[in-house]
Amino acid sequence: MTENLKWQITSDSLDASQLLVDETLFHVANGYIGVRGNFEEGYPNHYNTIRGAYINGVYDISEVKHGEKLHGFIDSKQKIINITDVQGIKLYIAGEKFSLFDGKVLNFKRILDMREGIYKRQILWESPKGHIIEINIQRMASFIKPELFVIDYTVRSINYEGEIVFVSTQKGDVFNYFDPTDPRVAGELEKHLTVETIDIQKDIGIITSITNKSHIRVTSAVKHVVSSQHELERIQDDKSSTTKIRLYIKAGQAQRLVKYCIFTDSVRFSDCHQAAIDKMEEVLETPIEQLYQLQKVYLSAFWDKADVVVNGDDRLQQGIHFSLFELLQSVGKDQYSNIAAKGLSGEGYEGHYFWDTEIYMLPFFLLTDKALAENLLNYRYEKLEAARENARILGHKKGALYPWRTISGSECSAYFPSGTAQYHINADIAYMFVQYYFVTGDLDFVESKGAEVLFETARLWMDTGHYVEDSFRIDAVTGPDEYTCIVNNNYYTNCMAKYNLKWAVKFYELLKENNRIEHLAQKLGITEEEVNEWQQAAEKMYLPYDEKLDINPQDDSFLSKAIWDFENTPKDQYPLLLHYHPLYIYRYQVCKQADTVLAHFLLEDEQKLSTIKKSYEYYEKITTHDSSLSTCIFSIVAAKLGEIRKAYDYFMQTTRLDLDNIHHNTKDGIHTANMGGTYMGMVYGFAGLRIKESGIFFNPVIPEQWKSYEFKICYQGRMIKIHVNQEQSHYTLLEGKELKIHVYDQEYILNDDIIIKI
Ligand code: BGC
Repeated sequence: MTENLKWQITSDSLDASQLLVDETLFHVANGYIGVRGNFEEGYPNHYNTIRGAYINGVYDISEVKHGEKLHGFIDSKQKIINITDVQGIKLYIAGEKFSLFDGKVLNFKRILDMREGIYKRQILWESPKGHIIEINIQRMASFIKPELFVIDYTVRSINYEGEIVFVSTQKGDVFNYFDPTDPRVAGELEKHLTVETIDIQKDIGIITSITNKSHIRVTSAVKHVVSSQHELERIQDDKSSTTKIRLYIKAGQAQRLVKYCIFTDSVRFSDCHQAAIDKMEEVLETPIEQLYQLQKVYLSAFWDKADVVVNGDDRLQQGIHFSLFELLQSVGKDQYSNIAAKGLSGEGYEGHYFWDTEIYMLPFFLLTDKALAENLLNYRYEKLEAARENARILGHKKGALYPWRTISGSECSAYFPSGTAQYHINADIAYMFVQYYFVTGDLDFVESKGAEVLFETARLWMDTGHYVEDSFRIDAVTGPDEYTCIVNNNYYTNCMAKYNLKWAVKFYELLKENNRIEHLAQKLGITEEEVNEWQQAAEKMYLPYDEKLDINPQDDSFLSKAIWDFENTPKDQYPLLLHYHPLYIYRYQVCKQADTVLAHFLLEDEQKLSTIKKSYEYYEKITTHDSSLSTCIFSIVAAKLGEIRKAYDYFMQTTRLDLDNIHHNTKDGIHTANMGGTYMGMVYGFAGLRIKESGIFFNPVIPEQWKSYEFKICYQGRMIKIHVNQEQSHYTLLEGKELKIHVYDQEYILNDDIIIKI
């Protein structure tokens, strides 16, 4: 039972609002396709549903209207599209339509099994006329065959003998979800996909559609495989196709329909129509049971490397497993895609990629699956040209500025104060290229990609900042905290920019020492003089510090603002962004999320411990955590400061955020950055891992509520297992050569096992 709790997500709710949340929680995805957990048979008319399926990196362009359009404002943006709806299967028993909102539901349960990679719906139902049937439906988005989504539908009759009919649909007439009252989802109803062709070849129903403005084609191919003798009838119009399957069933007998659905797109395939047929034929060569088995094997390898085990709290363990599983479901595994803020589970944030990837999610992949981490960084490298163009739009003469939110590389943020102005994304990306280098030691990657990204982002800082007397300052940017916008010298931004500049210099020197700089320096026109300027700006970077309080002010004007009246703000006024005009919020000391505290985690050596502690205490009082990217960071820094109880509390708020719908918007999709934050909370927070130029460091602590915790990481060709219990921390070298590690700032050579007292 507890084993099941740790590895399965379950629900038996038919409550209208929980059903919306469950559509997200029970979506299946594999990094390429994602299908929400909608009921095949649909819902009563008055039920709200967000019915959707998405392909990572497939988008349309949507117009952005501004009341007052100033120079350089974006006039269009990309947006993930809802693709052909293949989810429909209605079931009729003696003419009665199966519905969980009709007849008697004798048993109902949905289960997401994270070891099998399968979502199941188990039902025992009595029809209004008294026919009892058992229904088992399983869905899979295959990790092995990324284009494949399957619905495997079995009906067992308990007391009925006669005809049953499946009515299976493939609908090309689809829309995206919208809500004009919530800035976190699209505000207008728009149709993005138009059916081009609809046909049947080799018994496969195929619909190819094209997006209206980006002209990307998407093909869906559907094939029905039925367990026994049946009659099949097809009805088709110019937008959709319906397949009726008639079968005979006896009491005690089961009938099964497997609906194979293949998705392809023209971003990846030159002829996506043909590719869908080819992929379908390829998939059909493998028995379905074997495809399930392969899914399990894939996941078993994933869990073997990536699992984080906590002993002593099964609900927490469930939340951790869910987070890691969702990261795997969400991550783009090819060069065309990245990780959307909501993964492939919903339409919140319109399928855009943010800094969430580098600062919150990449660490997980970096430490558990180097190839996926490299792929995410490759994506940024591929978008460097677009980032250069973006910098020019923003008036910069040189360098590259990564867009705040994007799919194909150009800026998609329509509200620049808390969007485009977040220049820190440049340094966030640079930071992760450096971390990648620390973890892999891959100089080839630095030469071929990393250095160019760091040089171009460094150039941007030089073009953005300026000297005031002897210090380098950066004006008019927004830090991570979106409740404080367009400020001078945001501590986080300056600190990260400093690191960006410093490592641009270091990468330059590193390549020079290895005689590998010439080609790149020539390509980009970099001179030693320019590199010296980077060095100087890094050294002279101004980092706000308040001596009296011994804290880093979030920016130049932050501490002189009035403090938000928390006492008189009713609970239902959070998140503030949905209840107050932004300008009103900007006038106060109130933070949506970790900002300076995040800088103190990422670059802890920039400040003395007392400043980190005092800053933590200061910002804790004025942070609402209205963003889901916040509590994990407070947990990590609390653990560093030895505040284990607090670290634990913040961590508990992080791990089950979607499972318990804590932010009340899980219906729009999972919060993937927060899931990366769950991983970081364990590994960087409780285990105190830091990866620096000087090596690998651990500083483990353990909350009193747990017996132990354990995980593995890959570092410089090694695999290390870390086990921490109430008495000791235990490091085991599972693969690779001996290695120097630091625990509580003491140096050790790890060649087998090391055990250190807590
Ligand atoms: C946060 C951003 C984040 C975005 C997407 C916003 O609410 O403030 O930091 O990048 O959500 O997850």
